Amino acid sequence: MSNYHIKHLEEYYQVYRKSVRNPGAFWEEIAEEHFLWRKKWDNVLQWDFSKPEVKWFEGAQLNITENCIDRHLTTRGNKTAILFEPNNPKELAEHITYNQLHKRVNQFANVLKAQGIKKGDRVCIYLPMIPELAISVLACARIGAIHSVVFAGFSATALATRINDSDCKMLLTSDGSYRGAKTIDLKDIVDEALEHCPGVTRVLVTKRIHATINMVSGRDQWLQPLLDKASNICEAEIMNAEDPLFILYTSGSTGKPKGMVHTMAGYMVYTAYTFKNIFQYRENDVYWCTADIGWITGHSYIVYGPLINGATTLMFEGVPSYPDYGRFWDIVQKHKVNQFYTAPTAIRALAKQGAELVEKYDLSSLKVLGSVGEPINEEAWHWYNDNVGKKNSPIVDTWWQTETGGIMISPIPYVTPTKPTYATLPFIGIQPTLMDSHGAELKGNQVEGRLCIKFPWPSMARTIWGNHQRYKDTYFSTYKNQYFTGDGALRDEVGYYRITGRVDDVIIVSGHNLGTAPIEDAINEHPAVSESAIVGFPHTIKGSALYGYVTLKDTGESRDQDNVRKEINQIISEHIGPIAKLDKIQFTSGLPKTRSGKIMRRILRKIAHKDTSNLGDTSTLLNPEVVQDIMDNAL
Ligand code: WT7
Repeated sequence: MSNYHIKHLEEYYQVYRKSVRNPGAFWEEIAEEHFLWRKKWDNVLQWDFSKPEVKWFEGAQLNITENCIDRHLTTRGNKTAILFEPNNPKELAEHITYNQLHKRVNQFANVLKAQGIKKGDRVCIYLPMIPELAISVLACARIGAIHSVVFAGFSATALATRINDSDCKMLLTSDGSYRGAKTIDLKDIVDEALEHCPGVTRVLVTKRIHATINMVSGRDQWLQPLLDKASNICEAEIMNAEDPLFILYTSGSTGKPKGMVHTMAGYMVYTAYTFKNIFQYRENDVYWCTADIGWITGHSYIVYGPLINGATTLMFEGVPSYPDYGRFWDIVQKHKVNQFYTAPTAIRALAKQGAELVEKYDLSSLKVLGSVGEPINEEAWHWYNDNVGKKNSPIVDTWWQTETGGIMISPIPYVTPTKPTYATLPFIGIQPTLMDSHGAELKGNQVEGRLCIKFPWPSMARTIWGNHQRYKDTYFSTYKNQYFTGDGALRDEVGYYRITGRVDDVIIVSGHNLGTAPIEDAINEHPAVSESAIVGFPHTIKGSALYGYVTLKDTGESRDQDNVRKEINQIISEHIGPIAKLDKIQFTSGLPKTRSGKIMRRILRKIAHKDTSNLGDTSTLLNPEVVQDIMDNAL
């Protein structure tokens, strides 16, 4: 029996049991049947969480790009691999077939080689969401160079830190980028960053906005003339299973960013297998993930997972609000998108706009809706389900992390019955545990604790670049022999998981542990509320009390704020209990967010603590302007 494509709940349980009873045999079977290997492994799995050391498919040789591209050429050569939708809807979409992708990746790979890039070298990619981004990622993988993609919204300082941390030799960028009605001078940011990066000796620049830019002689070159001269045949470098494929930095909330290192074989097997099942991808489907390739979601589920499966993966350059808030739905209609994968923050922003903008479009092609990045609150879940899915497309609430490489806990659509705000069941091969504060595992159902994983899975990060000790300290030292996720979760009466949020966000009020996520959920139920965030602040009697930052929907009508405050606390009382009522509610024009859409609670916490002398690093904020506004109106 092939376990590659799961179609029924009974089958899920059966395959799951098999995958945990004998993980080695299980993954070996998956790896054998669905991938192209230059040499098979000697050892499926070797591991020791105390070091920590994890090796999958040791001894195997492969090139992931042969799995993403070459092996599809005979059967899918003229199928669209990458469907590029530009920022401006009037600009034509670009269909890049597998044949074309093959040529373009090979050409790019030859350019990298001609510029002196070799196996093991680090190449930093700082590009907007244009085809060159995906192509350059694959070109690096083709020749065994380690790519380090830095999201093109990061500042010069953030870019320089990342380049230097992994000693990148080369930088790939563009003359600028489009973002809605704006253009961004990417190259200026690059020039500023590179003043602090002596190790970068070559910069290749692709044209996107055709701006006049500064080119540093001896360092910067236009990409296109180099591509024009390059051959479109490039033998794939044969790589070992555990060679690094890429480094990706996690938006560290404190300290230096962590360069998570992912390796070849396990990452390939796991991202492919999860993609196939969690999106139930069928031949000729059009799959769209709205993330940026600068994040792990884009690496695993725009580039690698879909291409390994021979899918058509849509890349969107723009933003959900341009030319108006109907753009996502316009794209779904235009390209008949079948699987749509986005973040709760986007869903809430769109829900705020009202249903008319959705109703205008034909969304009947949709079969699966995905959510990722943060807990999806109940109101957003229902809005997504009712207005986008028309109660007809299952929502897959996928829990995972940069560190996990692939989706860990998620429903399988049409297989696992969904439940709002629940990521539901562990994916095949994943063994989650919930731990109590004393380090003991909480067995059975209806328990709540800290989420750990007790057994290795193929796509886990192997180390932090240049700092294995930090990797051990951060993930393997809190609980013995467990990978600690940093998240809290509960397991309900049927074994479904609900991620309750980062455990560092737990607030203890009068001796009660309160998760911020469920309280925020409750607040967001209020019809006037758009978004909210809760933090703790010191309270003489309760220890900590709750401070809520609440953004109201822009409905044009004025509201009695005191009334809304009362109503919010009423809803909280009803949903969680009077213990969770907020002591302070501040109405804000927005919440400070990282560029990946996460609320930066550290700042909100400081403001609530009246400790604003040093807000720490705010360089990764998307909307730094709201911080001053929140400080000025703090309670
Ligand atoms: C953290 C990881 C995984 C790709 C994007 C984020 C939170 C992620 C969910 C979800 C609740 C979620 C967790 C996790 N998170 N997905 N479906 N439900 N929380 O990657 O930046 O590494 O963040 O995002 O807190 O630990 P990341």
